[in-house]
Amino acid sequence: NRDTFVSGWNRSVQRLETVVSTQEEAKRLAENGAPEGTAIIAEEQTGGRGRMGRKWHSPRGKGIWMSVVLRPNLPLSLTPQLTLLAGVAVCRAIREISGVQAGIKWPNDLLAGGRKICGILLESSLREGGLHYCIAGIGIAVNLTEDDYPDDLHGVGTSLLIEGGGIPVDRQQLTEAVLAELEFLYTLYIERGFKPVRELWESMSVTLGRQVYFNTPEGRSEGTAVGLDDGGGLLLRDAAGNITCILSGEIEMIQ
Ligand code: BTN
Repeated sequence: NRDTFVSGWNRSVQRLETVVSTQEEAKRLAENGAPEGTAIIAEEQTGGRGRMGRKWHSPRGKGIWMSVVLRPNLPLSLTPQLTLLAGVAVCRAIREISGVQAGIKWPNDLLAGGRKICGILLESSLREGGLHYCIAGIGIAVNLTEDDYPDDLHGVGTSLLIEGGGIPVDRQQLTEAVLAELEFLYTLYIERGFKPVRELWESMSVTLGRQVYFNTPEGRSEGTAVGLDDGGGLLLRDAAGNITCILSGEIEMIQ
């Protein structure tokens, strides 16, 4: 019964030492009926996964590597809204606990000082043609130093420690803030719809108003990011003034 899930946000957090990926652990719990809000957090991931088949570097004790079970009663086409919601939740928690002024690059990469500080991977599982559950995977580079990044990631990743002038951030406090923000925004979303979440996203976005490239297998297009549509897609205006909506994928900000 879906209703029982919507009304009950579970605050249980399971902590693990080393896992391949918290996404798989959370899926196992979700398959066994874990309620909405159940979170799995690991000290280290040996096979952390990012979007688009990338690896996610997850060294021991340096970050928050966490996956949360969600059971929204939504059509599959609206799940991009949850991706944006998760970005807003983490951005608010980071600002609150560390003071680092993170911003959101569409859809939900968090940047600080122009570099990536957090990534979010929302995966949906289907049953009988509808949405069964979602797993929101959150990876925050908390106390990584420049030396923690493999060579190929130099210049791409940063951390709260680096951006905060070398002051370590309490991972426990930040984890609690992320979960509290997720619960708050998710409840707001269930009760009032996407609009309030969208307004918060827009106020924290570093993408809106910027000139961007959008890369697809068919090629690269260019436009100005002018807003979000009702489903959470990004609206791009090209030089001729035509507006297109992109639903997923990756953009590059120009300049
Ligand atoms: C991205 O920016 O590409 C998304 C990165 C998501 C990383 C998190 S860490 C916790 C969870 N477990 C994983 O294997 N991936 C996500």
